Amino acid sequence: MTNRKTLKMTVNDTVRNVEVATNETLLETLRRVGAVEVKCGCEKGDCGACAVLLDGMAVDSCLTLTHTVGTRAITTIKGLGTAEAPHPLQTAFAELGAAQCGYCTPGMIIATQSMLTHDTATPDENDIRHGLSGNLCRCTGYTKIYDAVLEGAKAMRETEAAK
Ligand code: FES
Ligand code: FES
Repeated sequence: MTNRKTLKMTVNDTVRNVEVATNETLLETLRRVGAVEVKCGCEKGDCGACAVLLDGMAVDSCLTLTHTVGTRAITTIKGLGTAEAPHPLQTAFAELGAAQCGYCTPGMIIATQSMLTHDTATPDENDIRHGLSGNLCRCTGYTKIYDAVLEGAKAMRETEAAK
């Protein structure tokens, strides 16, 4: 039997009460409540399209049961930046042509943000290949994505240094 629970979830700094089944994945919940910027790909942890940040750490939302999230803050690509005030990684992906169909892009940027925060702020290509090894792209051949990560990381360091 599937139980249901009402949870208090924080998505991109907005708190909301959501009723979920105990077997519901975070990917299913987020898309159900309108966060369709979180992309649904393989639903088995292979593609990274569904990645979100939980307290700043990237997870595959298709492998995360919503009721296990607890009080951790959920950040989707829309929580990192907007069209009016883009995050440096979003700017770099756009300017360097790192997105073609764009389906993988939210997950790529979320995984990159997590890598830059938790692993290294000064990644080389090996770091990037390792950090994004759980994210698949069918369009770009990855070279432009790696270039955008290098450029975005540099912009983030410069922003930090200017504070
Ligand atoms: S949809 Fe979650 S890893 Fe592919
Ligand atoms: S840009 Fe199309 S899957 Fe990556």
